[in-house]
Amino acid sequence: MIAPSILSADFANLAAESAAVGSADWLHVDVMDAHFVPNLTLGLPVVQSLLKATDIPLDCHLMIEDPARWAPPYAEAGAHNVTFHAEATDDPVAVGRDIRAAGAKAGLSIKPGTALDPYLDILSEFDTLLVMSVEPGFGGQSFMPEVLAKVRAIRARVDAHDLRLIVEIDGGINADTIEQAAEAGVDCFVAGSAVYGAADPAVAVEQLRAQAVAARG
Ligand code: DX5
Ligand code: ZN
Repeated sequence: MIAPSILSADFANLAAESAAVGSADWLHVDVMDAHFVPNLTLGLPVVQSLLKATDIPLDCHLMIEDPARWAPPYAEAGAHNVTFHAEATDDPVAVGRDIRAAGAKAGLSIKPGTALDPYLDILSEFDTLLVMSVEPGFGGQSFMPEVLAKVRAIRARVDAHDLRLIVEIDGGINADTIEQAAEAGVDCFVAGSAVYGAADPAVAVEQLRAQAVAARG
């Protein structure tokens, strides 16, 4: 699956920008609050408008403090998937359950320096695990290959226990990096600058997907 990130799109033309990515599986929406990360993007009103402007399922990535308070409304609004950060809460299971109860898939994200081990036993509470391959906050950063060790560990766990967990990666994914991520076992690839910086975003989506499929084998 390919999830173009609208962080690299034109925020004044989000309806057209969502239509420009053709066969994208999900549209990745980066919500930043200038507290959990040093950047500020968009929030619930923009997501509500975007839901009316596109049929592509919205993959909302909340880089915010206090997800227990702020995450469920994105699910109630109609987001397909609502992902929050493990580092932002003491009770990720409760937040995940609230998101599911509000009607969305629940996602857990971990920053590059966050260990996977404390979360291995709660993965059944989530539909996606979003592994950050850059420090969250900005698009256009370089891929951190060291996070692939966590991807391999998650892949092994998911396969061994037959979990229904989508392994997603976010940050620095492009034609040069997507194959190593696919080989490590990623299912869903977020790509911002590699899609919206391309001459034809829809073609970029197709090319990235073809590379990932070939590398995953
Ligand atoms: C970064 C965001 C990413 C960002 C990725 O904090 O979570 O989704 O848009 O952008 P690229 O693909 O350019 O690294
Ligand atoms: Zn993101």
